[in-house]
Amino acid sequence: IMRVIIVEDKVAGGKEACKVFANALANGAKVLGLATGGTPETTYQELVASKLDFSKLVSVNLDEYVGLGADDPQSYNYYMKQHLFNQKPFAKSYLPNGLAEDEAAEIERYNQILAANPVDLQLLGIGENGHIGFNEPGSPLDAKTRKVALTESTIKANARYFEREEDVPRYAYSMGIGSIMQAKEILLEAFGAKKAQAVKALVEGPVDANVPATILQKHPNVTVIVDKQAAALLT
Ligand code: F6R
Repeated sequence: IMRVIIVEDKVAGGKEACKVFANALANGAKVLGLATGGTPETTYQELVASKLDFSKLVSVNLDEYVGLGADDPQSYNYYMKQHLFNQKPFAKSYLPNGLAEDEAAEIERYNQILAANPVDLQLLGIGENGHIGFNEPGSPLDAKTRKVALTESTIKANARYFEREEDVPRYAYSMGIGSIMQAKEILLEAFGAKKAQAVKALVEGPVDANVPATILQKHPNVTVIVDKQAAALLT
């Protein structure tokens, strides 16, 4: 079941998303799956300003760049501290460790964390090419956490956070699509005209591994929050 909520802009989207979080917590959610990037910023602002208490909850993030440590301002660990964890600490927050020496062991560690902490509510953005997490077009639909190569389009899209495009890491650890589908509830947000094509495929297209987000049509409980620009191609 996919519920689509169309809002005026990303600020209104953040407020709607905050309601979804509040509802999940009221229903006993213990583990929140979190995302980074531009999209969830207004949501984190609302969560920080809210009365919601995460101090007894666990968070697990979708992904992290391979090669970047938690103190690197470009890392997703750092992003999460800046946008949420410093203001609203969780009992425990997990992200992949981009500096892990043994990559296979790091992937195994993360899969064990996910097995021990089943996600109640997973927040997602969507790439212009339909990726979720860093599961790029063609990714296996049943995968767990793995190391993935970023596509050229994702590297270009993420270059805005880096001084030079060459500085964008080429690899990331990402929860697989199979791991994402395990979440009891999913909240996907998309804001801006650049996401309109991906949103149309997500909501109206066939399930297609070349647009990874379309697999969410098979999930029992998905809320999609889009602003008017991202919803522009919906019929
Ligand atoms: C981030 C993530 C990515 C982003 C997507 C959209 O943790 O997993 O899938 O959600 O690339 O990025 P933004 O929100 O920057 O447009």
